[in-house]
Amino acid sequence: MARRILFLGPPGAGKGTQAQLLADAIGIPHISSGAMLREAVADGTELGKKAESIMAAGDLVPDDLVVAMIEERLAKDDARAGYILDGFPRNVVQAKALQAALGDDAIDAMLLFDVGEDELVDRLLGRAEEGRADDAEETIRRRFDVYRGETEPLIEAYADRVIAVDGTGSVDEVFDRVQGALG
Ligand code: AP5
Repeated sequence: MARRILFLGPPGAGKGTQAQLLADAIGIPHISSGAMLREAVADGTELGKKAESIMAAGDLVPDDLVVAMIEERLAKDDARAGYILDGFPRNVVQAKALQAALGDDAIDAMLLFDVGEDELVDRLLGRAEEGRADDAEETIRRRFDVYRGETEPLIEAYADRVIAVDGTGSVDEVFDRVQGALG
């Protein structure tokens, strides 16, 4: 089974939910750039202070900051046997930085989650209780635009290792597909 896995898909596609399930099932870390940045904001670190308003607007945090954060995380012992990257790389610049740091086999499979936009909006508006600053409707639209403009080109960049996964249905149904896709 692939053990250096990238989860790609639009906001709300279920990347974080499925990445955590898979990480628990196969014992490799789930590395979420969004979760790490939200933690930095909550802790009031220098990184968090720089990232907070950018994230609240639905834009991307500068590449140099995110690349440094993820490279430090990938250097930890628990990532030696594999990892699930969720939210990074998010554009071509970040993908090139990852390749420069770890080589072409930094990612051996990319799961691409497909969910229609109306359902994505319902999911994101439906988790209001989590209090994410970027889950307001206007910001959700901005996040979709950023995904289309910045992140979708990665589908082409990793075309030789992409596996499409239908992200609709229950969490358990999607997880069955994820496990099936990875063999
Ligand atoms: P990030 O945290 O990566 O947010 P995102 O890509 O917008 O993804 P989400 O977490 O909203 O969705 P998801 O696909 O993980 O779905 P989830 O499982 O949560 O990034 C946030 C921000 O941080 C960015 O906008 C940017 O500012 C910054 N950032 C992050 N990485 C960066 C980078 N590399 N470079 C620069 N900036 C970066 O599920 C969503 C909801 O749906 C949940 O409520 C869940 O319970 C529910 N759900 C999940 N699966 C199902 C299902 N099958 N059926 C029904 N509901 C479901």
